[in-house]
Amino acid sequence: MINISVLVSGGGTNLQALIDAQNSGKIKNGRITCVISSKADAYALERAKNNNIPAKVIARKEYDNIHTYTAAVRDALLEANTDLVVYAGFMTILDSQMVEAFEGKMMNVHPALIPSFCGKGFYGLRVHQAVLDSGVKLTGATVHFVTEECDAGPIILQKAIEVKSDDTPQTLQRRVMEQCEWKILPEAISLFCDGRIKINGNKTEII
Ligand code: GAR
Repeated sequence: MINISVLVSGGGTNLQALIDAQNSGKIKNGRITCVISSKADAYALERAKNNNIPAKVIARKEYDNIHTYTAAVRDALLEANTDLVVYAGFMTILDSQMVEAFEGKMMNVHPALIPSFCGKGFYGLRVHQAVLDSGVKLTGATVHFVTEECDAGPIILQKAIEVKSDDTPQTLQRRVMEQCEWKILPEAISLFCDGRIKINGNKTEII
Protein backbone atom coordinates (compact mmCIF):
# COMPACT_ATOMS: atom_id res chain seq x y z
CA MET A 1 0.00 0.00 0.00
CA ILE A 2 1.37 3.40 -1.03
CA ASN A 3 1.32 6.08 1.70
CA ILE A 4 0.08 9.29 0.08
CA SER A 5 0.80 12.69 1.67
CA VAL A 6 -1.09 15.69 0.29
CA LEU A 7 0.24 19.27 0.42
CA VAL A 8 -2.45 21.97 0.48
CA SER A 9 -2.84 25.72 1.03
CA GLY A 10 -6.49 26.56 0.44
CA GLY A 11 -9.96 25.18 -0.19
CA GLY A 12 -8.82 21.64 -0.77
CA THR A 13 -11.32 20.64 -3.45
CA ASN A 14 -8.63 18.51 -5.06
CA LEU A 15 -7.96 16.85 -1.70
CA GLN A 16 -11.71 16.18 -1.50
CA ALA A 17 -11.64 14.59 -4.97
CA LEU A 18 -8.88 12.28 -3.72
CA ILE A 19 -10.79 11.39 -0.56
CA ASP A 20 -13.88 10.65 -2.68
CA ALA A 21 -11.84 8.52 -5.08
CA GLN A 22 -10.37 6.61 -2.16
CA ASN A 23 -13.79 6.04 -0.58
CA SER A 24 -15.33 4.84 -3.85
CA GLY A 25 -12.48 2.40 -4.47
CA LYS A 26 -10.95 4.28 -7.41
CA ILE A 27 -7.56 4.37 -5.68
CA LYS A 28 -6.99 0.76 -4.70
CA ASN A 29 -3.32 0.56 -3.83
CA GLY A 30 -2.85 3.84 -1.98
CA ARG A 31 -4.12 5.57 1.16
CA ILE A 32 -4.01 9.26 2.12
CA THR A 33 -2.17 9.08 5.42
CA CYS A 34 -1.05 12.69 5.89
CA VAL A 35 -2.13 16.23 4.94
CA ILE A 36 0.20 19.19 5.36
CA SER A 37 -1.02 22.76 4.99
CA SER A 38 1.11 25.86 4.50
CA LYS A 39 -1.71 27.94 5.99
CA ALA A 40 -3.44 27.54 9.37
CA ASP A 41 -6.84 28.67 8.04
CA ALA A 42 -6.99 26.45 4.95
CA TYR A 43 -10.42 24.81 4.59
CA ALA A 44 -8.57 21.72 3.34
CA LEU A 45 -7.72 21.05 7.01
CA GLU A 46 -11.44 20.67 7.80
CA ARG A 47 -11.77 18.16 4.99
CA ALA A 48 -8.90 16.12 6.42
CA LYS A 49 -10.39 16.29 9.91
CA ASN A 50 -13.86 15.23 8.69
CA ASN A 51 -12.27 12.15 7.18
CA ASN A 52 -9.97 11.27 10.09
CA ILE A 53 -6.82 11.96 8.10
CA PRO A 54 -3.90 13.19 10.23
CA ALA A 55 -3.21 16.82 9.28
CA LYS A 56 -0.46 19.21 10.21
CA VAL A 57 0.06 22.94 9.68
CA ILE A 58 3.57 23.99 8.69
CA ALA A 59 2.94 27.70 8.19
CA ARG A 60 5.08 29.34 5.54
CA LYS A 61 4.95 32.65 7.36
CA GLU A 62 6.64 31.19 10.42
CA TYR A 63 9.85 30.48 8.50
CA ASP A 64 12.42 33.10 7.45
CA ASN A 65 13.44 31.46 4.22
CA ILE A 66 12.47 28.72 1.79
CA HIS A 67 15.39 26.46 2.76
CA THR A 68 14.34 26.03 6.39
CA TYR A 69 10.69 25.80 5.33
CA THR A 70 11.41 23.07 2.79
CA ALA A 71 13.45 21.15 5.36
CA ALA A 72 10.53 21.23 7.79
CA VAL A 73 8.06 19.98 5.16
CA ARG A 74 10.46 17.28 3.98
CA ASP A 75 11.08 16.04 7.52
CA ALA A 76 7.33 15.85 8.24
CA LEU A 77 6.82 13.88 5.02
CA LEU A 78 9.63 11.48 5.88
CA GLU A 79 8.25 11.04 9.37
CA ALA A 80 4.89 10.10 7.84
CA ASN A 81 6.64 7.37 5.79
CA THR A 82 5.47 9.04 2.60
CA ASP A 83 5.73 7.07 -0.65
CA LEU A 84 3.98 9.68 -2.83
CA VAL A 85 3.75 13.45 -2.29
CA VAL A 86 0.80 15.17 -3.99
CA TYR A 87 0.82 18.95 -4.42
CA ALA A 88 -2.90 19.76 -4.49
CA GLY A 89 -3.23 23.54 -4.60
CA PHE A 90 0.02 24.03 -2.65
CA MET A 91 1.03 27.64 -3.17
CA THR A 92 4.69 27.58 -2.12
CA ILE A 93 7.57 26.62 -4.39
CA LEU A 94 9.86 24.35 -2.36
CA ASP A 95 13.60 24.03 -3.02
CA SER A 96 15.85 21.19 -4.20
CA GLN A 97 15.78 19.35 -0.87
CA MET A 98 12.39 17.96 -1.96
CA VAL A 99 13.74 16.45 -5.17
CA GLU A 100 16.70 15.02 -3.25
CA ALA A 101 14.30 13.21 -0.89
CA PHE A 102 11.41 12.30 -3.21
CA GLU A 103 12.59 12.24 -6.82
CA GLY A 104 10.00 10.60 -9.08
CA LYS A 105 7.59 10.44 -6.15
CA MET A 106 6.00 13.91 -6.28
CA MET A 107 3.01 14.95 -8.36
CA ASN A 108 1.45 18.36 -8.93
CA VAL A 109 -1.86 19.37 -10.46
CA HIS A 110 -1.68 22.58 -12.50
CA PRO A 111 -4.82 24.36 -13.77
CA ALA A 112 -3.67 24.81 -17.40
CA LEU A 113 -2.22 22.85 -20.28
CA ILE A 114 1.53 22.84 -19.56
CA PRO A 115 3.84 24.17 -21.07
CA SER A 116 1.41 27.11 -21.45
CA PHE A 117 0.38 29.38 -18.56
CA CYS A 118 2.72 27.84 -16.00
CA GLY A 119 5.82 28.58 -13.95
CA LYS A 120 6.46 31.17 -11.28
CA GLY A 121 3.55 33.60 -10.84
CA PHE A 122 1.00 31.33 -12.52
CA TYR A 123 -1.20 30.03 -9.75
CA GLY A 124 -4.88 30.00 -8.83
CA LEU A 125 -7.10 32.55 -10.59
CA ARG A 126 -4.07 34.26 -12.18
CA VAL A 127 -3.72 31.28 -14.50
CA HIS A 128 -7.31 31.58 -15.72
CA GLN A 129 -7.04 35.36 -16.11
CA ALA A 130 -3.94 34.84 -18.28
CA VAL A 131 -5.77 32.24 -20.36
CA LEU A 132 -8.66 34.67 -20.97
CA ASP A 133 -6.29 37.55 -21.79
CA SER A 134 -4.46 35.44 -24.37
CA GLY A 135 -7.54 34.49 -26.39
CA VAL A 136 -6.76 30.75 -26.54
CA LYS A 137 -9.80 28.60 -27.25
CA LEU A 138 -8.75 25.59 -25.19
CA THR A 139 -7.46 25.24 -21.65
CA GLY A 140 -7.48 22.44 -19.10
CA ALA A 141 -5.35 20.84 -16.43
CA THR A 142 -2.11 18.89 -16.19
CA VAL A 143 -0.79 16.39 -13.67
CA HIS A 144 2.98 16.09 -13.79
CA PHE A 145 5.89 14.90 -11.72
CA VAL A 146 7.59 17.62 -9.70
CA THR A 147 11.20 18.39 -10.56
CA GLU A 148 13.44 21.29 -9.55
CA GLU A 149 12.05 23.55 -12.25
CA CYS A 150 8.57 24.87 -11.42
CA ASP A 151 5.76 23.19 -13.46
CA ALA A 152 8.26 21.59 -15.84
CA GLY A 153 8.48 17.90 -14.83
CA PRO A 154 7.32 14.90 -16.88
CA ILE A 155 3.62 15.16 -17.78
CA ILE A 156 1.45 12.25 -16.64
CA LEU A 157 -2.08 13.23 -17.72
CA GLN A 158 -3.78 16.23 -19.32
CA LYS A 159 -7.39 17.08 -20.06
CA ALA A 160 -8.69 19.95 -22.19
CA ILE A 161 -11.93 21.92 -22.24
CA GLU A 162 -13.16 24.82 -24.37
CA VAL A 163 -12.92 28.42 -23.22
CA LYS A 164 -16.29 30.17 -23.61
CA SER A 165 -16.65 33.77 -24.79
CA ASP A 166 -18.47 34.77 -21.61
CA ASP A 167 -16.08 33.02 -19.19
CA THR A 168 -14.69 34.89 -16.20
CA PRO A 169 -11.61 33.64 -14.33
CA GLN A 170 -14.00 32.25 -11.72
CA THR A 171 -16.27 30.33 -14.13
CA LEU A 172 -13.26 28.99 -15.99
CA GLN A 173 -11.55 27.91 -12.78
CA ARG A 174 -14.68 26.05 -11.70
CA ARG A 175 -15.03 24.19 -15.02
CA VAL A 176 -11.33 23.31 -15.15
CA MET A 177 -11.56 21.94 -11.62
CA GLU A 178 -14.78 19.98 -12.13
CA GLN A 179 -14.12 18.61 -15.59
CA CYS A 180 -10.34 18.23 -15.51
CA GLU A 181 -8.49 18.45 -12.17
CA TRP A 182 -10.86 16.41 -10.03
CA LYS A 183 -10.74 13.64 -12.68
CA ILE A 184 -7.12 13.43 -13.76
CA LEU A 185 -5.52 13.88 -10.32
CA PRO A 186 -7.15 10.77 -8.77
CA GLU A 187 -6.53 8.90 -12.04
CA ALA A 188 -2.81 9.75 -12.07
CA ILE A 189 -2.46 8.77 -8.42
CA SER A 190 -4.20 5.48 -9.05
CA LEU A 191 -1.84 4.77 -11.96
CA PHE A 192 1.16 5.58 -9.74
CA CYS A 193 -0.07 3.35 -6.93
CA ASP A 194 -0.61 0.52 -9.41
CA GLY A 195 3.00 0.92 -10.61
CA ARG A 196 1.85 1.84 -14.12
CA ILE A 197 3.80 5.05 -14.75
CA LYS A 198 7.25 4.77 -16.29
CA ILE A 199 9.43 7.89 -16.44
CA ASN A 200 11.67 8.20 -19.52
CA GLY A 201 13.65 11.44 -19.24
CA ASN A 202 11.10 14.24 -19.40
CA LYS A 203 8.31 11.98 -20.67
CA THR A 204 6.13 9.37 -19.06
CA GLU A 205 4.65 6.19 -20.41
CA ILE A 206 1.54 4.54 -18.98
CA ILE A 207 2.15 0.80 -18.94
C1 GAR B 1 -6.43 24.36 -8.11
O1 GAR B 1 -7.03 24.90 -9.25
C2 GAR B 1 -5.00 23.98 -8.38
O2 GAR B 1 -4.81 23.43 -9.65
C3 GAR B 1 -4.33 25.31 -8.28
O3 GAR B 1 -4.95 25.96 -7.19
C4 GAR B 1 -6.27 25.44 -7.02
C5 GAR B 1 -6.40 24.89 -5.63
O4 GAR B 1 -7.70 24.50 -5.37
N1 GAR B 1 -2.92 25.18 -8.11
C6 GAR B 1 -2.04 26.07 -8.55
O5 GAR B 1 -2.35 27.08 -9.14
C7 GAR B 1 -0.60 25.74 -8.24
N2 GAR B 1 0.24 26.23 -9.31
P1 GAR B 1 -8.08 23.51 -4.18
O6 GAR B 1 -7.38 24.01 -2.93
O7 GAR B 1 -9.57 23.66 -4.06
O8 GAR B 1 -7.66 22.10 -4.55
